[in-house]
Amino acid sequence: MSSRVNLLAPEVRMNPYPLYAELRRNAPVSQVDPGGLWAVARYADVLTVMKNPQLFSSEGIRRTYRPEWISDYPMADSMLVMDPPHHTRLRALVSRAFGTSVLTRLEPRVRELAQQVTAALPQDRSVDFVDEFSIRVPIAVLGDLVGIPPSLHARLKRWAEVMTQFTSVRPEDTELQERLRAAVADARAHFEEVVEERRRAPREDLVSDLLRARVDGEALTPTDLMGFMFLLLIGGLETTVHLLSSCALKFQEDPALMARLRAEPALIPRFIDEMLRHSGPVHGVVRLVTDEVELGGVHVPQGARLLLLMASANRDEAHFPDPDRFDLDRPGPQNLPFGHGAHFCLGAQLARMESRLALEALLARFSRLTLGEEPARWNISLVMRGPTLLPLAAHTD
Ligand code: HEM
Repeated sequence: MSSRVNLLAPEVRMNPYPLYAELRRNAPVSQVDPGGLWAVARYADVLTVMKNPQLFSSEGIRRTYRPEWISDYPMADSMLVMDPPHHTRLRALVSRAFGTSVLTRLEPRVRELAQQVTAALPQDRSVDFVDEFSIRVPIAVLGDLVGIPPSLHARLKRWAEVMTQFTSVRPEDTELQERLRAAVADARAHFEEVVEERRRAPREDLVSDLLRARVDGEALTPTDLMGFMFLLLIGGLETTVHLLSSCALKFQEDPALMARLRAEPALIPRFIDEMLRHSGPVHGVVRLVTDEVELGGVHVPQGARLLLLMASANRDEAHFPDPDRFDLDRPGPQNLPFGHGAHFCLGAQLARMESRLALEALLARFSRLTLGEEPARWNISLVMRGPTLLPLAAHTD
């Protein structure tokens, strides 16, 4: 490969996997467009980077969240853009609150909700599965976590939709910048109200637990807490929604697989893990190189921004035999879809639980999914991939 490839080219976004395979073969660590990011395509190199936060920094990409057109975006204060030891301290604090208690508390509610969502899905009629199915459980879970009541879930969804465009906004796009500033201010005002309320009257919920959490006598600061609530908004919704949409699409494409899972629901967790490997929602994760380094046999300069191609690593033939084949019987677990090391996804268990219960309910009611009237539409992003519109019809026969 001589000239730089453009990872955002429409034909690449339609199906990026052939290009990822070519990068793994011929240019495993190479500069790409847009922006001259250094794409890292092989599993072993991605893992090396994730294991070494000193040399490959998350904090170094914090300035992405501090552009000139916004003065105070709380994502810039979140643990996602911190390195040890700051990250370690913050992670210990939020992990206390975010441990298994969240899962145990939420599971019965999520199960009931998943059944309601599936019961409300129309039969034999094309509907947008993103809106009518995939988003329903994750938005309710996110609302519960950040203390936003169901009457405001439509607003929560709008905040998340606008903010996921943050890292791709162009300097001249002042209209989007204004919408982003407004969404950030609105979300912040609501989150501050929730925090104040929980301070006055703690409940059995995540925000109250976060306020109570202490490590060596230290609590979260208001800035830490706001950063974490914004991180949940950005990291907890789009990911899980894309995963559920991809699962529904897989059922439509492979009716025999859908029938097998209906007959053996105990296989659903394994199905989810293989979906995460084969067609997971997170395609890229960014790090900054703090000192010149040799990676995958390539010299990378200090200050380079690496784009770790997780979706490529998860199809690396050196790690997964016959990687493009969807194989329910593949030995697991495959844990790269949720990252590795210091920043390993804090919501991995929650995402698995939400997806399992949503799919169990869908499979219990419907036996077949067929394509709807319109073609599906896909998002355009370097870091995330999934349908934004997925017209499907569900059938019980
Ligand atoms: C299928 C669903 C999901 C996928 C594939 C996913 C993937 C990831 C990945 C790859 C990272 C690591 C980022 C990095 O190394 O820079 C991450 C971090 C994180 N995720 Fe998830 N995620 C999912 C769902 C969730 C959910 C449901 C939540 C919470 C509600 C969540 C909360 C977080 C948080 C807080 C972090 C930051 C951890 C840290 O910086 O220490 N994620 N996620």
